[in-house]
Amino acid sequence: MRGAPTPLALIGLGSVGRRLALGWQRAGLRVAGHSPSSASRERARAEGLRVEDELAPALRGARCLVLCVGDVSLEQAATDVARALDPGQAPICLHTCGHRGVSALAPLAARGCPTGTFHPLAAFASEGPGPALAEAWCAIGGDASARAAASELARALGARTFALREGEDAALRYHTAAALLANGTVALTSIAMDLAREACSEPGAARDAFLALLKSTLANLERAAPERALTGPVSRGDAATVRAHLAGLANDPAASELYRQLSRRMLELARRDGRIDAEALRALQGLLSR
Ligand SMILES: NC(=O)c1ccc[n+]([C@@H]2O[C@H](COP(=O)([O-])OP(=O)(O)OC[C@H]3O[C@@H](n4cnc5c(N)ncnc54)[C@H](OP(=O)(O)O)[C@@H]3O)[C@@H](O)[C@H]2O)c1
Repeated sequence: MRGAPTPLALIGLGSVGRRLALGWQRAGLRVAGHSPSSASRERARAEGLRVEDELAPALRGARCLVLCVGDVSLEQAATDVARALDPGQAPICLHTCGHRGVSALAPLAARGCPTGTFHPLAAFASEGPGPALAEAWCAIGGDASARAAASELARALGARTFALREGEDAALRYHTAAALLANGTVALTSIAMDLAREACSEPGAARDAFLALLKSTLANLERAAPERALTGPVSRGDAATVRAHLAGLANDPAASELYRQLSRRMLELARRDGRIDAEALRALQGLLSR
């Protein structure tokens, strides 16, 4: 495929749909959007999108459509779209749900539409400008023509793509990893900030300081594999400090268990990297197995 498919229909103008639609519109594609609620439609219109009140006009003439609907509504939306297409119209159909493969678009495939997945691997909060799409990667899958369209759509945003293996299992595994990383980091940051707040006399500064720490860790991960990026007492084989940390968490069983679990992985990374000797390894294994 040469160039992104256009006209393009965006169904579901929530956090993801309206940001993608705007990105593609700014890239010069002809985009029409539709969303069931008037609130979402008005918001998207106010941001400068062409929005149709009904589904059928948004689909009319579309060569490609992207379903950006909530996960639980995906099958229903695919069924609705399949019914609303003009006779003989068989656009390339993509969805943005990370943990589903193409089977969610079965009603559209049954109408002869090429089907695929387009999952922007970025965090789209409901408020704010949204992630920098030009820095994002998008996971793509599906029929060859759907993958080609998804690649061109990513290129139009300045984003890069990587292919997923076929099948529902691959999509689920990929999305589990993505959710663990992105959302797990938020949860871990919140736990660390709670601990720090009790220790710092300037909680606001502590927040900024911890975010700067997170950025420096990310910079290490950008430069090197996790084995090499790891710092801290476990990576140094420092059992005394780990024992002191655990003693300090004695009244916080949840944080203590989390500390142990993550430290066991740190120990495995340090061992793989040949950074700690057998004696330190045994001492830390003993502390962390309890
Ligand atoms: N948020 C993220 O960070 C992120 C990142 C990558 C991928 N995704 C995936 O992208 C998809 C959309 O996520 P989101 O965060 O944009 O969710 P969202 O903000 O909740 O938006 C979902 C949209 O789906 C629309 N919708 C619901 N049922 C529909 C139906 N039957 N037909 C047409 N539209 C329907 C809703 O319309 P109304 O508002 O009009 O009711 C809503 O605007 C999900 O599959 C999600 O997993 C999310």
